[in-house]
Amino acid sequence: MPVSIRPLHPVFVGEVTGVDCRSPLGPAEVAAIEAGMNEHAVLVFRDQDITDDEQIAFTRHFGELESYATPGHIRKRADQRLGPGIADFSNLDKDGRIMSAEDRVWFFKLGDRLWHSDSSFRPAPAKYSILSGRIIPSCGANTEFADMRAAYDALDERTKAEILDLVCEHSLIYSREAIGFTDLTPEEIAAFRPVRQPLVRTHPVTGRKSLFLAAHAGAIVGWTIPEARIFLRDLMEHATQREFVYAHAWQRWDLVMWDNRSTMHRARRFDRSEVRDVRRTTLAGDAPTIEQPG
Ligand SMILES: [Fe+2]
Repeated sequence: MPVSIRPLHPVFVGEVTGVDCRSPLGPAEVAAIEAGMNEHAVLVFRDQDITDDEQIAFTRHFGELESYATPGHIRKRADQRLGPGIADFSNLDKDGRIMSAEDRVWFFKLGDRLWHSDSSFRPAPAKYSILSGRIIPSCGANTEFADMRAAYDALDERTKAEILDLVCEHSLIYSREAIGFTDLTPEEIAAFRPVRQPLVRTHPVTGRKSLFLAAHAGAIVGWTIPEARIFLRDLMEHATQREFVYAHAWQRWDLVMWDNRSTMHRARRFDRSEVRDVRRTTLAGDAPTIEQPG
């Protein structure tokens, strides 16, 4: 069956049919999905009852898995429920029980409910993320996406000129501080040292410009912190206007793939007494977006 993509939203997001993500893809299928990603930035595949290994294999069709010595979270390896190559975005502990509301891992996870782009706190931020819905709560728990190309295009020319060469500093410390979680160890603070990112990115394939924002952005190089924070907040508000946002209401076995270079996303609230089991594979970015100091 040929790969077919139908739009789910006026400015981005497509639903793919004709692909079984559990089986090896042919070059034509990979090319069709890549082309779909370049156009729509978010793709939804329904009814993919996939295993972790199959999800990893599917992801590898599009590049290298992201892998770092320093973690992008605070959960220790021994406390992790899943094997290497796949990240646990559930509310479960390593024994499969719902995490305590007092668990600092849970506090940390709540930061994912702020608008962000995955791994923008890394010098080479993520290319695609692929999230599989294994167990979906009965209510809420949507994932929302914002098209940062459309957000950039809608800026006035004066603002576009002003931001063209601006550089932001991104860190998990900033996004966690935003929800009042400041209880980080010296080791975590060292691991989450801020990195620099351009505020405007150009997509390597399409050449489209986008706003590169995230809750992880907490400073603009050469600006005072208050001026930077208020400007970033204004840009964030602009970029997440309803016309640029798609809300994905999960069905079990949905697989959703997004381009972190041209979108932001956020998780939405759900009843924490219910299980939410979603698992993410992540594709590494090609290279650092900008030179890092030191
Ligand atoms: Fe994320």
